[in-house]
Order: sequence, then structure tokens, then C-alpha cells
Amino acid sequence: MQPQTKLQPETVVAPQSARTIKLSARDLSRYYGETVALDRVDLDVHEGEFLTLLGPSGSGKTTLLQTICGLNLPSRGQLMIDGTDHTHTRPEKRGIGVVFQNYALFPHLTVAENIGYPLNVRGIGAREIAQRVGRSLETVGLGHAGNRFPNELSGGQQQRVALARCLVYDPSIILMDEPLSALDRKLREQMQMEIKRIHRETDTTIIFVTHDQEEALALSERICLMRDGRIVQAGTPSEMYDTPNSVFVADFIGISNIFEGQVSDGALDTPDGRLPLPPGRDAAGRGSLVLRPEMMRIDPDGPISGTVTDTIYAGAETRLLVTTASGKEVILRVRSGPIPAVGAAVRIGWDRERGRFLTREV
Ligand SMILES: Nc1ncnc2c1ncn2[C@@H]1O[C@H](COP(=O)(O)OP(=O)(O)O)[C@@H](O)[C@H]1O
Ligand SMILES: [Mg+2]
Repeated sequence: MQPQTKLQPETVVAPQSARTIKLSARDLSRYYGETVALDRVDLDVHEGEFLTLLGPSGSGKTTLLQTICGLNLPSRGQLMIDGTDHTHTRPEKRGIGVVFQNYALFPHLTVAENIGYPLNVRGIGAREIAQRVGRSLETVGLGHAGNRFPNELSGGQQQRVALARCLVYDPSIILMDEPLSALDRKLREQMQMEIKRIHRETDTTIIFVTHDQEEALALSERICLMRDGRIVQAGTPSEMYDTPNSVFVADFIGISNIFEGQVSDGALDTPDGRLPLPPGRDAAGRGSLVLRPEMMRIDPDGPISGTVTDTIYAGAETRLLVTTASGKEVILRVRSGPIPAVGAAVRIGWDRERGRFLTREV
């Protein structure tokens, strides 16, 4: 048998469809002394895709983004854009626009001047600048605000200006590093819709960075979940939610109730008793059973017993907090039927097939 090498196609994180590849990273690494900020990343992004890099703080998201736009050079590996090697190309020659969390507008320039500034510096004529600035202001819904100063705008509007300043170049790739994390929830959700709309209307390839899994699920066509400089799993939002390949992914994306134990005779021996596993999972060894809150229900014949510690009404559903006999906190989503009172002794069940059994931690 051939030994697996890193460059075999099946090891590359690539979109399923046959759409044109816009950008590829191969074996991309970045070291800072002993720190491995980026660890042999292989990634293909297709043209017009909305891809999100998701991961906890320090997982390498910013480093990967900066390596793509050229603000940071990799220690090893290769970066291709449109089939050409751009590993060492100067940032301004890559055709990439970048939006950061700290959008740093010039306070003494108007909104229009802020957006036109980079074009001005490059010696582009006043008429063309005015046209392009006008167009990108329209795109972000600020057509009326060109003559205002940044301090006359709300945080959300300033973030729109930062987006317009990036769109004015007409970049074919836009990188966004946690652009919405400074905004409050309502504004953030508004801007998410806005960014989605701009993506639809412009066909730009967008690589978006966030540590917020809800934001990643809401925005992306594909999510790459990172940890310790590596992409640990990539897939559509529903693939990531429904079929996490490790306990880390199950825990990071959505809410998971995770029961650890030892497999014997098709069930998992845990501190909360013997729990049935999905069919075909009867090899001996240790592993974790992952149950999403919406899979579990109050069931007098269920295998787990516990006490209701809180009920949280949330409109269409009620979230139930149950502390199991072993002291574990479990979350259930109940959409119909009676809601047991706080303090009630309950049993919890689920459809055995729907549980997900994982043997990998990461
Ligand atoms: N300039 C730097 N010097 C030393 N270490 C760095 C530098 N930049 C990033 N790192 C380290 O690289 C790792 C990844 O950082 P980063 O890419 O900023 O992660 P993220 O954006 O996911 O929070 C972290 O351990 C961080 O401390
Ligand atoms: Mg970062």
C-alpha cells in the first residue's frame, strides 16, 4: 500500500462541487519560534464561495487570513490564486480586499473621502473616484451619508463604511476578520444579512473569520473549524452540526450533551448507566455519545434519570435543564407536551439511531 502523503487530493479540504477553484493553500504553515500558529493547512476555496474560518481564540484564524492577503508570510507551503503562485506576492498585488474588526476611519475626512482615499493615493482621477465611491456607498446602503464625518455615524454605519472602502477596489476576494464582533447583537444580525446580500449581488469570494459558531452557521456556505493551527473539520453548516467527526467539533458547534464511557455489547457504560448506542457501534473501546438537545425527550422509559433544575421559556420551545443522577447538566428542547416543574424527577430518552457516537477527541 502507498503511504498517505499530505498532498493526495482526498486529504485536501475542498468544496464538493466542480466549481472553479479561486484560491488554494497547500501545506501552509507559520511558526513563531516554538509556536505553531498555522500547521500544514490544505484548503481549496471556490469562486464565489462564502467560507468561514471558525475556531477559538488562538486557533490560527487571523494568521491564515493574513497569510492569504500577504500581510504575513508563511514559514512553508504555497498559496495559489487563480492557478498562479502568490505565496510571496506583495499584498496590494493580490486583488484581495480586507475588512478588520478595528475599521480605523480617518476622523478628519468625510465618509466619501475615507472611501476614496486609497484610490486617491494611487492617482486615480477625481471623476472615477467619485463614481466608484458612490457605487460602493450605495452597495452598503449609505448613499446619503457621503458628506458626513465618521463621528456622526453609529458603530454599524462605520462598519459599513469600512466595508465600502474595501468594495471600492472591486476585489475578487474579500477577507473579513471578526468584522462584527464589536457590534451589539441586533446590529450584528443586521450586518450579517447585509454581508450575505452583498455576497449574493457581487459574486465575490468571501473568507469570513469568527469565533461565534452561531454567526458561522447563519452566514456560511462552508465552515472550516480550526484548532491549534489546523483545520479539524470542514463542511456545510448542516454537515458540521449533524455529523461532527470529533468531540471537539460536536462541543464547539451547537449545544451537545456528551456522555463518555466504555463500549460493551452495543451500549455505553457511563456514570449515568448503560446508554444505547446507534446501531453498528459495538466495537469495544472508549468513546462519547453525543445527543443534541432537540433529540432528547422526557420519557418514563428513558435510560437516564435526573432532576429538573431550570426551565427556560423561549417562545416556540422550552429549554429544560436537567441534572442527572451522576451530577451532569443536560439541556433538552421541548416543543410540545407538558413541561415538568423545577424539582421534578424525570427520565430522559431519545431515538437510539439519532445519537452520534464518537471515538476521537479532536
Ligand atoms: N506576531 C506573533 N508573534 C508570536 N506569536 C503569534 C503572533 N501572532 C500570532 N501568534 C500566535 O499564533 C497563534 C494563532 O494566533 P491567531 O492567528 O491570532 O489566532 P486567532 O485569530 O484564531 O485568535 C496563537 O498562539 C498566537 O499567540
Ligand atoms: Mg484573530
